[in-house]
Order: sequence, then C-alpha cells, then structure tokens
Amino acid sequence: MKTTISEVHKYVGEQVTIGAWIANKRSSGKIAFLQLRDGSGFIQGVVVKAEVEESVFQTAKTVTQESSVYVTGIVREDERSPFGYELGVTGVEVIHEAVDYPITPKNHGTEFLMDNRHLWLRSKKQHAIMKIRNEVIRATYEYFNDNGFSKVDPPILTGSAPEGTSELFATKYFDEDAYLSQSGQLYMEAAAMALGKVFSFGPTFRAEKSKTRRHLIEFWMIEPEMAFYNHEDSLVVQEEYVSYIVQSVLKNCKLELGVLDRDTSKLEKIKAPFPRISYDDAIKFLNEKGFDDIQWGDDFGAPHETAIAESYDMPVFIINYPVGIKPFYMQPHPERDDVVLCADLIAPEGYGEIIGGSERIHDYDLLKQRIEEHNLDLDAYGWYLELSRYGSVPHSGFGLGLERTVAWISGTEHVREAIPFPRLLNRLYP
Ligand code: 4AD
Ligand code: MG
Repeated sequence: MKTTISEVHKYVGEQVTIGAWIANKRSSGKIAFLQLRDGSGFIQGVVVKAEVEESVFQTAKTVTQESSVYVTGIVREDERSPFGYELGVTGVEVIHEAVDYPITPKNHGTEFLMDNRHLWLRSKKQHAIMKIRNEVIRATYEYFNDNGFSKVDPPILTGSAPEGTSELFATKYFDEDAYLSQSGQLYMEAAAMALGKVFSFGPTFRAEKSKTRRHLIEFWMIEPEMAFYNHEDSLVVQEEYVSYIVQSVLKNCKLELGVLDRDTSKLEKIKAPFPRISYDDAIKFLNEKGFDDIQWGDDFGAPHETAIAESYDMPVFIINYPVGIKPFYMQPHPERDDVVLCADLIAPEGYGEIIGGSERIHDYDLLKQRIEEHNLDLDAYGWYLELSRYGSVPHSGFGLGLERTVAWISGTEHVREAIPFPRLLNRLYP
C-alpha cells in the first residue's frame, strides 16, 4: 500500500510504501535508524540487519542525508515517538542520491540558512512554522466564511496609495506610473458597499528601509471591511477573529507547537475580549515607566510597544491615536478633533503590532478636505471619494499582518521565518 506518513495510523501491522527524504540517519553494525520526512510528517524507519536482505541494510547504512527514497515497511505503534508510530523497514529504494547537502544537523548561522532558504524550508522547525502559517490561513477563511463575509480580491497593481506615499514600490504600467499595493483597503471599502462584509488576503509591499525582526518588504495581509460597523463593532470582530485563529492552531497544530517548544499555556489564555488602553494613557504609562524619548503626538517604536504589551498576557488594543500620525481616511473622534477612531492591536511577548484598523470617514466634504490636506492627487483618488457620494454609510475595517501573527503564535523570533521566501532590505534571493 502506497501512503504518506500522516496516514500510517490507518495501517498499523500492515506493510506500506512511503516516498520520503532522509532527514537524518544513525547506524551501527546491526541496526540503522532512518529519520524519514515526506512533507506530511516525520517517522523513524528501523532497519535490522538480521531481518532484511544484505543489500537493503547496506543501502540504509550508506544512504545520504536528503536523498529521496521509497521505503517499505510494517507500521508499528511506538510510544517514544512524538508522532506515535515507527516503520519496521523491509526495503529501501533510492530514487535520487543527494551529494553534500549543505544544511547538516550541526548549527548554521542565519545568513547561511537564509542563503539556502530553498533547502532550509525542509528542516523540522521551518516545516512546523509553515504548517502553522497554513493553519492560520485555513482558520481565517473558516472564520470569515462562517460569519457572513465574502472574500474579495483587490488589485496588486494600483494607481493610488492608502498608507501614504513614502513607502511605495513604483513601477511602469505601460506609459503610466503604477505602484505595488501596500494595502487593499480602499478597494475593500468599495467592495463593502457592494457586498456588506468582505475580507481580502493577499501580498502587500512596502519599500520600508527598516531592518528589524518585524519588517518585511513583501508581506501578506488579511483585510476585512464591514459596512454599517462602527469602530467599537470592528474591535469585537478583531478580538474574536484573533482568538479564533490562536485556538485553531492550538487544536490542529499540537505536533508543530511541540517541535517549536512553544509555551502553549501563554496561547491558551488568548480569548476575547482583549484589554483596551487609550493612546493618551499609553503615553502617560510610558513616561511613568521612564521612557523620556516619547511624548504626545509621537508614534510608538518597538521598545514602547513591548513595554505596553508586557503589562498584559493578552493582545492589547491601543485606541484613538493623534490625527497627525495616522492616514487621511480615519474618522475623527466625535468629541475631540485631535484624535481619530482607530486602534492598533499589540501582540503579547514583544511581537509588536499585528493589526491596524479604524472607522473610515464617510462624509464626502471631510474626506475631500483630508485628501487635499495630505497633498494626494484628487484625480487618482476620485473613484474612492465617489464612494461617499452615493449612499455613504459608517464603516470600519482592519488589516492583520500574517507573518507577525504567525511569528507570535509559533514563538518565532523573526518574521523572516514566518514566510516561505522572505523579501528583506538586503535579500531578493532565493
Ligand atoms: O497598520 P497598517 O499599515 O494598516 C493598513 O495597511 C491598513 N490599510 C489596513 C486596513 O485597515 N485595511 O498594516 C496592517 C498590519 C500591521 O499591523 C502589521 O501587522 C502588518 O500589517 N505590517 C507588516 N508586516 C510585516 N512587515 C511590514 N513591513 C509590515 N507593515 C505592516
Ligand atoms: Mg499600523
């Protein structure tokens, strides 16, 4: 029976054949242990010299790391294995012999591993992070589909920029100037007026000269947008959605969290509602803590966010930022003209901002005024402005950064390991 490692539990006591790679190997004169991986899981193959043909034992002894093989054997339950099963090998056929695989079981530096990202992805920890990323994506679709949202795909090539013009990747669109999307938001607002509750999931691009553990040049964002939702309504969606994906990973990625040594007790606590702190109080708190490098009107840096997050074992919303440090489209506070109805969601354990969201301006005159104040081109934003001329309604939305969220849930220090092929300030390959 040809099967995969994740399916062997169906064949206990039976003989199966698995297409796999040799992740690692140990052998003595009498026995060889093959650590096999096939993408679906990891399993140990045990080859006993006295029980197999001499040629099979020789192959098992000499096969090199990352060679591809067909392994045949009897499935056995094995309590010592984290996976629960092992294979009593009866045959090994080498498909392709790998010569001098560069990533050996010893420790390598990060730059070396990043240069070999196309191979590094095969290793156990990277595999676990990618599986967790996949689960976050799966749970995202599930959550929004179960809650009445429709998926809408905004364009990648755009003429207008929602988050300000300094971090745009410009390109030519035949004879016109175009930009790679830094957020699908403006298009999602148009879609919300057509479909009510919508979400997008796609790549976004920021030419940020930041070289930190939280910044990618290309990252993936989930952007829900909801007609008739005020900012408070949107916060409820955010905390329920984030709780849902954390609980889904806990439920469906136990092995992976184990491989990563993730302290899951910290994740188990993540349940809505999340605490909220105003921007004003966050500044006071930081000043009282001794941060004298920040005052009202400044944006938070990573150390500030981390200091605030440390007071909570939940993600925390910082709400109502000064109008001057947020984009043009945010709805002013009804009682104050110096702050806007917005929130950033800061993850626990120092992983920083994972969501930015707000209520959007829906008054035509105010929106036009803000576009002009921000020196944006009224021609490029004409279509967006027009949304507020025909049955404009209060609406809110947010963007969740996938890689920062995956880094947090998987306990991975740097976002570069939360995406298969990271685009960083100094890295366009592989
Ligand atoms: O806070 P941001 O800039 O918000 C927006 O783009 C809104 N238009 C979204 C919306 O309301 N529809 O980005 C949203 C999130 C951040 O909270 C962060 O998680 C992630 O995107 N993010 C990045 N992730 C990795 N690398 C970068 N350079 C990122 N910039 C933002
Ligand atoms: Mg932000």
